[in-house]
Amino acid sequence: MSRLVVVSNRVADPRKAAAGGLAVALGDALNTAGGLWFGWSGTVIAGGTPGEGELHLQKAGTVTLATVDLCAEDHADYYLGYSNSVLWPVFHYRLDLARFDAGYFGAYRRVNRLFARQLLTRLLPDDIIWVHDYHLIPLADELRALGATQRIGFFLHVPLPPQQLLAAIPQHEWLMHALFAYDLVGFQSEADLQNFSRYVQAEAGAEDLGDNYYKAFGRTVQAGAFPIGIDVDEFAALTHGKDAREMYERMKDEYSRRQLLLGVERLDYSKGLPQRLRAFKALLKKYPDNLRSATLIQIASPSREAMDTYTDLLQELESLCGAINGDFGELDWMPVRYMHRNVARKRLPGLYRVARVALVTPLRDGMNLVAKEFIAAQDPADPGVLMLSRFAGAAEQLKDALLVNPYDTDGMADTIQRALQMPLQERQARHQTLLKNIREQDVHWWRMTFLKALGAAARG
Ligand code: ADP
Ligand code: F6P
Repeated sequence: MSRLVVVSNRVADPRKAAAGGLAVALGDALNTAGGLWFGWSGTVIAGGTPGEGELHLQKAGTVTLATVDLCAEDHADYYLGYSNSVLWPVFHYRLDLARFDAGYFGAYRRVNRLFARQLLTRLLPDDIIWVHDYHLIPLADELRALGATQRIGFFLHVPLPPQQLLAAIPQHEWLMHALFAYDLVGFQSEADLQNFSRYVQAEAGAEDLGDNYYKAFGRTVQAGAFPIGIDVDEFAALTHGKDAREMYERMKDEYSRRQLLLGVERLDYSKGLPQRLRAFKALLKKYPDNLRSATLIQIASPSREAMDTYTDLLQELESLCGAINGDFGELDWMPVRYMHRNVARKRLPGLYRVARVALVTPLRDGMNLVAKEFIAAQDPADPGVLMLSRFAGAAEQLKDALLVNPYDTDGMADTIQRALQMPLQERQARHQTLLKNIREQDVHWWRMTFLKALGAAARG
C-alpha cells in the first residue's frame, strides 16, 4: 500500500490538541492512516538565509513529522505576507484588507521551492502526496520541476472566491496555472468548485472535458468538492470524558439561572465577531426578557498577532464587549464573557454541551468545523440550537441549522431570540438531522473520498 505524505504549512503533533481546522482534521486523518507530515516547524530563525531552512525529523506515534525552519524574512513575506496578507483576505472576499506588496510574491515562490527541495529528499516512489491550503498552491509545480512523478493532490481549506475577486491578485493566472500541476484539486463546497470552473473557463480558456476534468495550459486536472468533516465518534467520546463532564457540570452550576450562548474560534476577521456582538446587543435591546439571563461566552484564540488587521480586530472586539457590559451589565450579571485564549480540546465539548445556542456566524468560511463539533457534543434528548452563517461552507450541508446573514444585525437578533425560544421537539428534530449529516460526511469519509478520487484520477 502507498504511504500517505501530507504537506501543509502548519504541522502539529496529531496526538495533541490544536486550534485551526486544518491541524485538527489532518491530525485525525493521519492518526488513522499513519504516514509522513511535512511542513513548517513553527520556528523562525532570526538572521537566517532566505530560501534556506533546516529539516527536522520527529516521530509522533505512527506519524513522522518532517519540518523545516523559516528565516525571519521568509516568515514575514511568505507567511504573514503573501499567504496571510494577499491570499487569505482575497480568498475570504476581503479585497479591502489585502496588501499587494511586491516583495511578498518572491518569498512565496522561494519558500515553496525550499519545501519542494526538502520534501523531495524524503519521498518514496510510490508515495501519495496530499498538499493542503493556500500557502502551498505552487508546490506540485515545484516538485514536478525537480522530477517528482508521484500522484499529487491539493485541497483548499478556505473558500475560492468568484473570478472577478480572484482576478484582483496580480499573480492570479500564475496561481491557477500552478493548480494544473496537481492530479486532483479539492474544494470545500460546490460554490467553490463552481468558482473554479467559471474562472478557468473564462480566464484561461479551459476546456470542460466532463466529470470535472478541465484542460488548460497544456495540462488536465480533475476538480471536486470534498467537504471536510470531524471524527464524530471521537468527539462524542471526548464529550463523555472526565474533563468535558467536569467543564459541563461546573458551567451548569455557575450559570444555572442563565441561558448560555457560545462562540468559539480563532480571532480572525473572517469569523464575523464584531457583527455577532452587535447582534447580541440588538437582542438585549429589542427583547428585554433576555436581560439578566442571556449570557454570551465568546472564546477567541490568538491568531496571527503580528499583523495589524488582527490587532485592530482585537481592539474592536474588546471595546465592543466592554461597551455591552457597561451598558447592560448588572452587579450580578455580565452579558458578555470574553476570553482571548484557547480552551483545552478535552474540555471544549463540555462547553458546547452546556450552551443553549452556538453562534457560528462567519462572514465567509471555507467550512467551519466548530459548527460540526457543536452538533456532535449535544445531548440528543435536550440539544442546543446551531445558528450558522449562510456564508460558511458548512451551510451547504447543515440546512437544518438556523441559517443567518451575519451582516443583518436585526435579523440575527430575531434569530437568536427564536433559537432561545425554540421548543424541545423542534430542537430534537433539527439536531437529529444535523447529526446524521455530520456522520455521513465525517473526517474519515473526507480522507477516503479524496484519496480514492486521487488514486483514480486520469493523469495528463
Ligand atoms: P479555522 O480553520 O478557520 O480556524 P474551523 O472552525 O474550521 O476554523 O476549525 C477550528 C478548529 O480549531 C476547531 O477544531 C476548533 O475546536 C478549534 N478551535 C478554534 N478556536 C479554539 C479555541 N479558542 N480553543 C480551542 N480550540 C479552538
Ligand atoms: O483552516 C484554515 C487555516 O488557515 C489553516 O490553513 C491554518 O493552519 C489555520 O487556519 C490556522 O491559521 P495559522 O496556521 O495561520 O495559525
